[in-house]
Amino acid sequence: MTQTDSAQNLIALLQLAYSAELAAAYAYRGHWHSVESAEERTRIKQIEDEEWHHRELAGQMLESLGARPDRQREIRALIIGRVLAVLCHLMGWLPPMYGAGRLESRNVGEYETAARYARDCGRDDFIDCLLTMAEVEWEHEKYFRSRVLAHPLGRRLSLWPEPPPKEMIRELFYREAEASLELARASS
Ligand SMILES: [Fe+2]
Ligand SMILES: [Fe+2]
Repeated sequence: MTQTDSAQNLIALLQLAYSAELAAAYAYRGHWHSVESAEERTRIKQIEDEEWHHRELAGQMLESLGARPDRQREIRALIIGRVLAVLCHLMGWLPPMYGAGRLESRNVGEYETAARYARDCGRDDFIDCLLTMAEVEWEHEKYFRSRVLAHPLGRRLSLWPEPPPKEMIRELFYREAEASLELARASS
């Protein structure tokens, strides 16, 4: 894959993330309003704030790459976020917790992939930020998993695959970077 391909892939992934964060933030706003426990409200509100922050960071990276958010994705995300926010009030306690956990587990991988594209297109300045975002998504997944498992019915559900330990996000990334450097050295 050329540097240009990686840059294009990075832009596409950041556009996706930028809009997905909007949908997530609106959905979590509905979610924390729908739960009764003060502790859950505080944590989910904090997660909402973190999604807004991610959106801001993804937007800054897009700008720095000379790209813009995707208009269609933005409209779709706005609708999805608003609909999910309403559904949180109608579906009961468990389904939004389960749905959030499943989605968060995907977000971890997306920011890890974005960090790899950043490395491959020479934007090393994005790497730490993207890996930190992956780590924050890891914490989100962990929280929603713990909530589902706290529910008697949730414990009987089959859950999405558990992500590897958080430290592995950076460890794997840098191990892989070292291996590709060695490969490049060996072939030159
Ligand atoms: Fe996020
Ligand atoms: Fe998240």
